[in-house]
Amino acid sequence: MECNKAPLRVSRREFIKLSGATVFCAYAGAVGLSACSNWQAECNIPHAPGGSYRREGDKVIVSLTAANVLREVGAAVRLRLGHDKDSEQRIIIVRSNVDTYRAFADRCTHNGKELYYLHEEKVLRCYSGRSYFDLEGRVIKGPAEIALHPFQTHQAEDELVIEI
Ligand code: FES
Repeated sequence: MECNKAPLRVSRREFIKLSGATVFCAYAGAVGLSACSNWQAECNIPHAPGGSYRREGDKVIVSLTAANVLREVGAAVRLRLGHDKDSEQRIIIVRSNVDTYRAFADRCTHNGKELYYLHEEKVLRCYSGRSYFDLEGRVIKGPAEIALHPFQTHQAEDELVIEI
């Protein structure tokens, strides 16, 4: 999935920092905010299908063939670990390149909202639409001040191993 619908509202300085024509398109989209006001739905990130991942100690192993939503560069998927809300651990996985997967705790560090991935800009955006993070987890734009927690990942044949 490649989402180009979300308006990226950043300051002029941040805009230049992010740079590139694709960012310009997203920035321009902010002008027509009403057309993009439902960007969370348009950028919906699916949950990994049941049975496509398992936990083994401090690792989560995702079958890339079963979770085939990650078959395309630019795709993202959510995982939920744990059975109750108190112990639930949420992870977002992003395929940012052919052989590059990034995994993060799926919680904005400002107030815990879920994240979305904007592949054109290669940024993660908070559900609230306010905070942005780069693919290292660093804050690009607040109010979040703390970086996302990235998990180490490596691919072993058709499985993605996430160290949690
Ligand atoms: S929870 Fe993300 S900006 Fe507030």
